[in-house]
Amino acid sequence: MRNDGGHLYVRGWRSNLRFLTTFQQADPTVCQPQFPGRQAVVACLVAVAQISCGLEDSTGVAKAGETAAQSSSENREKFFRQRYECGREAWPAPQVDAGIQWQELGPLPDVQHPEDNPFSPAKAELGKALFFDPRLSGSREIACASCHDPDLAWADGRTVSFGHHREPLKRNAPTIRNITFQQSLFWDGRADTIEQQVEQVLLNPAEMHITRQQLVAAVAAVPGYREQFAAAFADSQVSFDRVVRAVACFQRTVVGGGSRFDRFVGGEYDLFSDAEIRGLDLFRRKARCLNCHHGPLFSDGRFHDVGLSYYGRRTEDLGRYRVTGKPEDVGRFRTPSLRDVTKTEPLMHNGLFKLSGVLNMYNAGMPTLKRQAYQQNDPLFPTKSPHLKPLGLSRQELADLAAFLTTLEEPYRRIRPPALALPDGP
Ligand code: HEC
Ligand code: HEC
Repeated sequence: MRNDGGHLYVRGWRSNLRFLTTFQQADPTVCQPQFPGRQAVVACLVAVAQISCGLEDSTGVAKAGETAAQSSSENREKFFRQRYECGREAWPAPQVDAGIQWQELGPLPDVQHPEDNPFSPAKAELGKALFFDPRLSGSREIACASCHDPDLAWADGRTVSFGHHREPLKRNAPTIRNITFQQSLFWDGRADTIEQQVEQVLLNPAEMHITRQQLVAAVAAVPGYREQFAAAFADSQVSFDRVVRAVACFQRTVVGGGSRFDRFVGGEYDLFSDAEIRGLDLFRRKARCLNCHHGPLFSDGRFHDVGLSYYGRRTEDLGRYRVTGKPEDVGRFRTPSLRDVTKTEPLMHNGLFKLSGVLNMYNAGMPTLKRQAYQQNDPLFPTKSPHLKPLGLSRQELADLAAFLTTLEEPYRRIRPPALALPDGP
């Protein structure tokens, strides 16, 4: 189910395009498709005998025409448009390091609900009410939506969130949109499933600060909930486990897919400016982002140290190491999705950066910690990922990269809290 974006029609497009690209690759002439609609796809299929996208050699450099095409800036724009307007199969090979199992950027897959928590509209609706309901916290003041606010792209726009008693938490609140596609949850991946994640947040004394018993009592005391539990589960009984499953089920419906990027890969090529196309190319090649931010989610789901552990300082965060206890995991964090990243500033696990700052840091190869004298033999001293190196991007290239990232924004859609979630009535 797609609750959160109007992208369904993109799906029909994709199969057409795959077909189209296969055809095009068989023919050595040049294609510059501008598809305004489905009819154009059909027209292009008819014309397919005369068109093609150039093919790649293994180094990612187009065999024919690149030097000539780049000889003037106008030709250069044409070159990039041509390369990227022929379907993903014809895109230039990315620049990724040896051994990286990368996946092409692309549209999001369908949501898979787990067998032990299958989707039903009633359960997702119940989960939505619970997500917005402050009675789920010990103080009866904090809802999940306090820190994952749909008006703020399901994040909270803060450096770090306020938790129970307005105590600042240690990390920045990420968006919950598209988390169903992640293999582990939280910056350090300490939850394997969304159900585990919900349970941990509810019971966390610094966050929702509630016990199982308090939670069941608070929810069961609301007559409207009993009816909704009956619709979502076998009967009206309220249990901690059912609350967790309903909230998890709702979270799986908060997915994107309606961004300009999704529509671009679906064939609406005129949606991207020249700068955004150049940015897409930089992202995949010269800026090396695809080494870690790849696939439909723009995340490899893995953990890397990008140099922000602040090891040995007051603000230190050891990240993944706290979960695994392995020295090589010190300072590693899960690669975040970059979908909506321009709407969820401030960025990074500590919420200390704006996008421009992040791009400047990547351009410089990210911070490298120097061992102090007392750290010479410290086995926990973090090692920055070898996939980061100075990039030599110009101002214009950084601006192009930033422009490309804006194409990952989902269109704004107002989400109203269900009436049941408002303790004092609608
Ligand atoms: C007080 C603020 C706050 C509240 C309330 C809160 N969260 Fe969060 N949430 C955070 C922060 C901060 C993180 C990141 C913590 C970390 O990774 O260590 C987070 C992480 C998450 C993640 C992981 C996202 C990812 O990319 O892995 C999900 C999902 C999530 N919260 C859902 C919820 C749900 C559901 C509730 C209500 C039951 C909730 N949160 C309540 C602040 C909050
Ligand atoms: C070595 C793997 C790796 C590479 C290469 C990489 N990233 Fe990241 N990226 C990460 C990780 C891990 C984080 C989270 C780090 C943290 O919070 O400490 C991150 C965070 C980000 C964020 C912040 C997202 C948020 O929600 O807070 C942005 C933006 C970003 N990367 C963009 C890029 C761009 C653009 C490139 C290419 C120039 C790039 N990354 C290259 C791994 C990588």
